[in-house]
Amino acid sequence: MTSSNRSRPERAQWLRSSNDITQQFLAFGGRPDVVSLAGGLPAAELYPIEAVKQATRRALERHGSAALEYGAVEGFPPLRDLIAARISAETGGTFTAANVLLTTGSMQALDLLGKALIDPGDLIVAQAPTYLGALDAWRPRAPSYRKLDWQSPDRTLLAKAKFAYAVPNYSNPTGVLVSQERRAALLDAVRDAGTWLVEDDPYLTMQLDGPPGPSILAHAAGRSRAAYDGPVIYLGTVSKSLVPGLRVGWAVGDPEMIRTLTLTKQATDLSSSMFAQSVAFELMRAGVDQEHSASIVPVYRERRDALCSEATRHLKDWFEWDVPSGGMFVWMRSRDGAIDTDELYKFAVEEKVAFVPSSVFDFDGKDRTAMRVNFTRSSPEVIGEGVRRLGRAIEAYVSSRPQLKGRV
Ligand SMILES: Cc1ncc(COP(=O)(O)O)c(C=O)c1O
Repeated sequence: MTSSNRSRPERAQWLRSSNDITQQFLAFGGRPDVVSLAGGLPAAELYPIEAVKQATRRALERHGSAALEYGAVEGFPPLRDLIAARISAETGGTFTAANVLLTTGSMQALDLLGKALIDPGDLIVAQAPTYLGALDAWRPRAPSYRKLDWQSPDRTLLAKAKFAYAVPNYSNPTGVLVSQERRAALLDAVRDAGTWLVEDDPYLTMQLDGPPGPSILAHAAGRSRAAYDGPVIYLGTVSKSLVPGLRVGWAVGDPEMIRTLTLTKQATDLSSSMFAQSVAFELMRAGVDQEHSASIVPVYRERRDALCSEATRHLKDWFEWDVPSGGMFVWMRSRDGAIDTDELYKFAVEEKVAFVPSSVFDFDGKDRTAMRVNFTRSSPEVIGEGVRRLGRAIEAYVSSRPQLKGRV
């Protein structure tokens, strides 16, 4: 028997329910002849490269070997202090380093939460459609899902759940901004039910039409002088306010939960990069993230408006959408569900334009009635070209479906 035909052990069960769809989108969207409206990527040409260069030098000069060590599992101490101070100022509550765990992007915080809280079959009550990275992160833990009802959160259901998951600011994929009333109502329900609420907030700084108002964490922290120990576990990141390549994120929560997540992280990677965290610290201490966010918002606003006005010209017979007040995406819903977006995607590939079909944001993979369209990555001209290609893809799709012809 040669080594090539020897049988090898089976891969773990969970991989059977996984897929490489994200990699496919990224690979297709990365081709130079393709207009990608698929990824959730910021505009690379706007990255503050000079500021990162200076902060890197400062990090090495000021922190020396501490920036190059394995470091504490919880993360680079000055950055934990800085996050705690900022969150205290933003929420009015009392947060210390004991409330903060630094992670490799907020994606790792999602993974750690899955490892720390979910046994197979456990229930997650999630805002739906749901961020596909969260579904990916939790898939190996084999949870079950139920949809979070913002209108009237179901306390009985929440009492059975390990946690609720929500992205109240400019959700991925829908761009929805959740009202303050709904935030408060969800927090009440979560408190009554005695469960956790994971508030994932990567788009906080991408406020295209003004501030979104307090986070759910702020509602939970109140004006208490006592150290925060509430049910909200808040996730933040520098991926949108600075650059995604630093891979610096944080989980803020009850100190007991932070200890549990730290233990979980120790078994995952010992610690995240002290180097990256010390650079992020120097950037944030100098307020570069705030300045940078303020400078990119007008550019993104123009791109959102370009996408929506071009879409009104070419897509509105078949799709409808709400103009998002922040974030990176427009969620386009097929009118009367007439178009199957998994199928449309094949026509889009022919036209060399990419979007993300709704099925990958659905717990069951069944919703094929919508698509996520990104407006941050490309210039208004490229976005316009992408939308025109999408329009042609829809025409080709519709002509291949006799039952749809003549509908418009
Ligand atoms: C809702 C949501 N959570 C988490 C993440 C992961 O972000 P990070 O780069 O901090 O890992 C993203 C990335 O786009 C996201 O959209």
